[in-house]
Amino acid sequence: MATKKRKKARAASKRIVKLKAKKPSAKAANNGLPRPSTKPWGKAGKALQGIRILDLSHVQAGPTCTQLLAWFGADVIKVERPGVGDITRGQLRDVPDADSLYFTMLNHNKRSITLDTKHPKGKEVLERLIKCCDVLVENFGPGVLDRMGYTWEHIHKLNPRMIVASIKGFGPGPYEDCKVYENVAQCAGGAASTTGFRDGPPLVTGAQIGDSGNGLHLAVGIVTALYQRDRTGRGQRVNVAMQDGVLNLCRVKLRDQQRLQRGPLAEYSQHGEGIPFGKSVPRAGNDSGGGQPGWILKCKGWETDPDAYIYFITQAPVWEKICDVIGKPEWKTDKDYATPKARLPRLKHIFATIEQWTMTKTKFEVMEICNAVDIPVGPILSMKEIAEEPSLRKTGTMVEVDHPTRGKYLTVGNPIKLSDSISEVKRSPLLGEHTEEILGAVLGYSAKEVAEIKSSGAVTPPEKVRAAAA
Ligand SMILES: CC(C)(COP(=O)(O)OP(=O)(O)OC[C@H]1O[C@@H](n2cnc3c(N)ncnc32)[C@H](O)[C@@H]1OP(=O)(O)O)[C@@H](O)C(=O)NCCC(=O)NCCS
Repeated sequence: MATKKRKKARAASKRIVKLKAKKPSAKAANNGLPRPSTKPWGKAGKALQGIRILDLSHVQAGPTCTQLLAWFGADVIKVERPGVGDITRGQLRDVPDADSLYFTMLNHNKRSITLDTKHPKGKEVLERLIKCCDVLVENFGPGVLDRMGYTWEHIHKLNPRMIVASIKGFGPGPYEDCKVYENVAQCAGGAASTTGFRDGPPLVTGAQIGDSGNGLHLAVGIVTALYQRDRTGRGQRVNVAMQDGVLNLCRVKLRDQQRLQRGPLAEYSQHGEGIPFGKSVPRAGNDSGGGQPGWILKCKGWETDPDAYIYFITQAPVWEKICDVIGKPEWKTDKDYATPKARLPRLKHIFATIEQWTMTKTKFEVMEICNAVDIPVGPILSMKEIAEEPSLRKTGTMVEVDHPTRGKYLTVGNPIKLSDSISEVKRSPLLGEHTEEILGAVLGYSAKEVAEIKSSGAVTPPEKVRAAAA
């Protein structure tokens, strides 16, 4: 009896050991993911392969977003008004009768279908597109999509998986009905009031933070919504207001607004100059926005070259090296210069002294000397210098593209580099270049139906339909 019990106990303990030793299921071990691909890097398809974007966007903000998604491998179908297309095709033209650089540089890797979305047949085609796409992107004026008959509720009913992504100038509130362009957003988002020199007017910046900046915000929202859709199976709305996106990029200025209530902003050079602060964050000229003071300094040739300047940062950990480089070793121990706090009220004089040195060197010489000893500096590069920079060509950030009507042109490629989803920059489509291809291969219309759609005027400008009928 006792032996039987012992045997039973031994068997039970073996079972426990077995249970304990049980390996996690393959699915759990992989966190629910497939096995890692063994294909060479960059050969396992593109990141957004299989995602189809219905691109109703125009001008810059929306197209920046859809271009980025196209570079990541999404199939972007750009819907354009027959005969006209995206207004930028004809804006700032430099080559007669060719799509402008404004258009070509924002619409790479997309397909174009012309469609009158107010025409009954056009609506029928648009509804088919809605049913077979994953994301609709638009940056029409406020209320335009609703007026076309495509409210969120209607789109969601047609395709519950559809993500509807929109850029508008303002979010809900007093300005929600306003049309907005880049500089309006820069002004309303706090960028203009904090850019420029204290004694000058507000300034807008050349970086298109309102348009391209918000295109990036929208792209992040779309990819996030796609990820959530994997779990929920349903689409959602992604809304970006240009004012909000600009404010997001001006976050540090709101930081300073609140600090100002507790006392002067010591790192702003106006503090060192003894000029009192007002109630709002002032324009700070070329002061650095962080805790390490910086300024733009003249370099050799500044009298004739408008870009012979360098941004010089007096980073505290390398202060002693700065003193050596500019020939002021005595500042290392002088109590008026040795600590960051002591230097703050003297920044104007310090930068003027450093400038005496930078003016004896070209910006590239300053860069070479300073980089060798870890002093952070940045040459002011002109667009010409950037366009000619070989390292940017090598990484695909600067790309030469061939176009059938305008020939070769330079563009900025995908600045986000994925090691397993490598972007190739393909030229922008001609107006309606893929209309038939999309009607047939994507939407499944027969050749007869395609002919009917074409003669209806839904994809062809009215004057062409009339001319063909005459
Ligand atoms: C940029 C903006 C100011 C341009 O204004 P706009 O040129 O007047 O263009 P809208 O977007 O208001 O659209 C104008 C009309 O074109 C029509 N339209 C556009 N595409 C069409 C198509 N394929 N077929 C038929 N009609 C079309 C619209 O239905 C609208 O008609 P409606 O006013 O009768 O409803 C405006 O679109 C806007 O404020 N967008 C949101 C903010 C934004 O993205 N701004 C930055 C742009 S880079």
